[in-house]
Amino acid sequence: MNAQTGICAEPNLHALYLMFNRVGDSAELIRRLAKVPTLWQSVSADFPDAGFSGLLAVGSEAWDGLYCVARPPQFRAFMAQEANGQQAPHTPFDLFVQLRADRVDVLHHAGQRLMALLGGLVELAEEVRGFRNLDCRDLTGFVDGTENPQDQHRAEVALLAGGEFAGGSYIHVQRWVHAMSDWERLALKEQEDIIGRTKQDNIEYESADKPLTAHIKRVNLKTPKGESMEILRQSMPWGTMTEQGLYFISCCRTQAHFNAMLASMYRGEGNHFDHLLRFTRAVTGAAFFAPSDEFLQSQG
Ligand code: HEM
Repeated sequence: MNAQTGICAEPNLHALYLMFNRVGDSAELIRRLAKVPTLWQSVSADFPDAGFSGLLAVGSEAWDGLYCVARPPQFRAFMAQEANGQQAPHTPFDLFVQLRADRVDVLHHAGQRLMALLGGLVELAEEVRGFRNLDCRDLTGFVDGTENPQDQHRAEVALLAGGEFAGGSYIHVQRWVHAMSDWERLALKEQEDIIGRTKQDNIEYESADKPLTAHIKRVNLKTPKGESMEILRQSMPWGTMTEQGLYFISCCRTQAHFNAMLASMYRGEGNHFDHLLRFTRAVTGAAFFAPSDEFLQSQG
């Protein structure tokens, strides 16, 4: 089975994120979605040097209305969180599209071709542009993605290995808005204690030095069998002149890892919460499944 290329894609310079809701006939939409893998291939062939990748994922609430034949195992709605006056809301969307490339014009072109393909059947609910900031730093100034799985391990973490949905991936998306002026008022050491790494050199704190409220302390979790819980993060910074933050994207062969990490950020061991939450808030949150090329094509 061929996974959609955007799931395990290596970091790029630019991204275009599109959220859609259905407005038209579902049977016709399924036929058009079957053409999406060919559209991704065709854009890659037209611009071979642009490092283009595409990803289309179907929302947990929309899945049964589109693909009633079968549902990915354990595919559940986004698990909203609320603790200490902070919230991670659940804001469902029917379709999520991630377009990535090293050229903005290629993203525009690909987005327009997708809009033409799905025209009349969906409405655009959110459009956000992502960009590489400096040497892959989040807008907080910290390098993001360091501990991401590398090479072949990306597929092992992100893709279902067997069964009807092999090559597919559970996707979680959240748009975070940073309180930049509050963050920038912190001393360097306070910022580093919140992340659990040094800022300039990106060196991980020794285990004993990591506060329970540090971000990487709260999300570095183990399964009951003692194995590391891993996700593949495809997040990128986004922003306008009035609002900015991180477009967070998790790709994984199970939903359990993201769910456990998010819960641990809001209410972790000893009721400690991730102090990053004092400086950023999630304004959207939705769960999707990105099927293999063959699954999409076989339903058309
Ligand atoms: C690590 C930033 C949200 C999961 C990191 C790192 C940074 C960072 C700077 C350290 C470098 C690295 O390994 O990538 C942020 C920001 C967020 C955010 C700014 C929101 C605005 C999340 C969420 C999750 C998450 C929502 C999952 C629910 C992880 C994981 C690591 C990590 C698994 C690697 C931990 C390790 O093994 O050391 N994040 N993150 N992050 N983050 Fe986040």
